[in-house]
Amino acid sequence: MTRKIVVTGGAGYIGSHVCLELVQSGRDVLIIDDFSNAHPEAVNRIGALAGRKVDFLRADLADHGQRQAVADKIKEFGADGAVHLAGLKAVGESVAQPARYYRVNIGSALTLVDAMEAAGAKSIVFSSSATVYGDLNQNPVTETGRTGATNPYGRTKLYIEEILKDVAAADGSWGVVNLRYFNPVGAHHSGRIGEDPNDIPNNLFPFIAQVAVGRRDELSVFGNDYPTRDGTGVRDYIHVVDLAKGHVAALDYLEKGNRGATAVNLGAGRGYSVLEAVAAFKRASNRDIPYEIAPRRDGDVAEIYADPTRAKELLGWSTEKTIDDMCADHWRWQSQNPNGYAGD
Ligand code: UFG
Repeated sequence: MTRKIVVTGGAGYIGSHVCLELVQSGRDVLIIDDFSNAHPEAVNRIGALAGRKVDFLRADLADHGQRQAVADKIKEFGADGAVHLAGLKAVGESVAQPARYYRVNIGSALTLVDAMEAAGAKSIVFSSSATVYGDLNQNPVTETGRTGATNPYGRTKLYIEEILKDVAAADGSWGVVNLRYFNPVGAHHSGRIGEDPNDIPNNLFPFIAQVAVGRRDELSVFGNDYPTRDGTGVRDYIHVVDLAKGHVAALDYLEKGNRGATAVNLGAGRGYSVLEAVAAFKRASNRDIPYEIAPRRDGDVAEIYADPTRAKELLGWSTEKTIDDMCADHWRWQSQNPNGYAGD
């Protein structure tokens, strides 16, 4: 029997790669997306890469008026499980508009839980984040580490994890995997899908890529006085295709009958500094990446990287791609689509 998986936020950066891996694993996919931070062209390209069209509903999960339509579509699709990625994700914006972040992110998760429950499909893989660890733990960070996010965006991730844990505790037929992503970067090897930020990129890799392609003059390196090997921030970058495969592994785990709620780190288990990432991107792109040292960014931690042992033990998953693969694939996407999906 072909498994049928709902992917909320399936047209976005991570979602598009998750959908492709799911179809390639033999599953049917229903994307639910409102395109607030994604492009319809991504859905076409997923279909083209996968060799078959994916089912699709344009809907805003946070809009109460659309809840019934979402529930009806999920039931009609015959869902077996869901990957929940829809949500707002800009840290600075979340500090300025906390109520909106809580309403949209938590409301969307609740709509999905209700719809999956009504469809009798009680399996959810949730896109959480390493941001739930704040700056409270020694590296490498394990899932039993202390949690405590430092901004409203991060708290929505933490609260949704808690809500899903409560849902699974209340009804033993629910299975939940809260995937705590470290820093997803790169793009599909084809160069056809990738990250297409709406605005000025907040994150390091899309910014570097836009400098390399000439869309921006220079990178600001946020601080070079951290207690790290070269003074710049260290993160556990993970290739988005490896990350997407982690979702397939999490669904495999749930489909084997594992129930209850479990948190799992998706990271490589090693960190790279900002300057190391810049050097790697320079090698991959053969372009100059001018940068200036700027003040530290509020809320940044000096260094964080994963202990990925649980992912290996529970899901049989570990990363395969190197920092050079991440940069080469990110660069292929950026150079073939200098203005993202909108074309030029
Ligand atoms: N950085 C720069 N210049 C930039 C952007 C980033 O020097 O223009 C540095 C940051 O200071 C940090 C590293 O590059 O040291 C990585 O920054 P990113 O913004 O790419 O990633 P973060 O680790 O800050 O972000 C992650 C997740 C977010 C999450 C956040 C919480 O990607 O979803 O952690 O802090 F919200």
